[in-house]
Amino acid sequence: MTDTTTASPAAAAPHLLVTGGAGFIGGAVVEAALARGWRVRVLDSLRSDVHGGLPAADPRIQFLVGDVTDPGVVAHALAGIDVVCHQAAKVGLGVDFSDAPDYVHSNEVGTAVLLAGMATAGIDRLVLASSMVVYGEGSYRGSAGFTRPGPRLAADLDAGVFDPLDPATGQPLEPLLVGEDDPLDPRNVYASSKLGQEYLATSWSRSTGGRAVALRYHNVYGPGMPQNTPYAGVASLFRSALQRGEAPTVFEDGRQRRDFVHVRDIASANLAAVDWTEPAPAGTFRAFNVGSGTVHTIGDMATALSVAANGPAPVVTGEYRLGDVRHITASSQRLRDELGWEPSMSFEAGMLEFATAPLRAAVL
Ligand code: UD1
Repeated sequence: MTDTTTASPAAAAPHLLVTGGAGFIGGAVVEAALARGWRVRVLDSLRSDVHGGLPAADPRIQFLVGDVTDPGVVAHALAGIDVVCHQAAKVGLGVDFSDAPDYVHSNEVGTAVLLAGMATAGIDRLVLASSMVVYGEGSYRGSAGFTRPGPRLAADLDAGVFDPLDPATGQPLEPLLVGEDDPLDPRNVYASSKLGQEYLATSWSRSTGGRAVALRYHNVYGPGMPQNTPYAGVASLFRSALQRGEAPTVFEDGRQRRDFVHVRDIASANLAAVDWTEPAPAGTFRAFNVGSGTVHTIGDMATALSVAANGPAPVVTGEYRLGDVRHITASSQRLRDELGWEPSMSFEAGMLEFATAPLRAAVL
């Protein structure tokens, strides 16, 4: 006779709350969690400046419409939850500095309210959507070794000098992959609000014994990406231009380096992070970069999309946006080593899919 009392039970599927679960990335996390057989609740404010229409009702999830900055809403949303995956945020670069209070309110106050609610409810597992923007400019090597250059000067950019230069030699610095322990240098309000969220999560884990993961996303793209908001990333802008029959407009010389990571790989990283929080020691906070591991230029990406969409070739304008960083590419080795995560989508296959994939409904 087999003694079943000593057999270890299969780990119970967690009941997951995804804040921002109606969004581009949150929606992909919800899909991935459902595919794993997890119970999923969504809390989303469905802000009209982000959501062009209401999501179709999905009987597989419990959908709560409400704002994460509202303590009453949050208390209701947290009832019976094991893990929170916090994706709700105001993203992108915004319109101008008058956006600052909204970034701080949505992202930092929202996270503080959520964490206070979790502390009250005794929920001790958190996965937080963070961003590569917390690093500012990428890491480089120059004649003096490792360096983190400051913001580029308008005079250099006007003269077509886009790469940060080695002050000793005047030659371009060599871009490196950014590691999680490299210096943090948030350079805009969005970036500082993302880092603020990380610091809040760190304080929460210390004071409550919670276990938190921050995932620093690289440039995320894929089906369902927002299109015409002031908060859209470059992949979406190029994709939208091609859909209108126009050429993608590439700034600087097109050689800016980024890492484009597919939204389904971001979702799988979130699930791996949820798994990781379960056995993690109490009071842990750990940050992980999430990138595909392959470096591409903005010009490469524009060309790949134009070819895949059979559209006009990109136009490189030499214009610039003051405040853009030149190169930022991550090492995601920590995520691979500690969480066993692997990206599944190559740049080529991902861009081929994205060139014709549906985007989110336009915001009117
Ligand atoms: C983007 C995100 C940021 C995210 C980060 C992750 C936005 C606005 N920014 O920052 O929130 O955390 O990735 O690493 O979503 N460009 C063009 N043509 C255009 C628009 C942009 O060539 O029409 C160029 C820019 O000059 C820049 C590059 O594309 O060099 C990337 O731009 P963008 O996607 O806006 O911002 P990131 O700095 O990568």
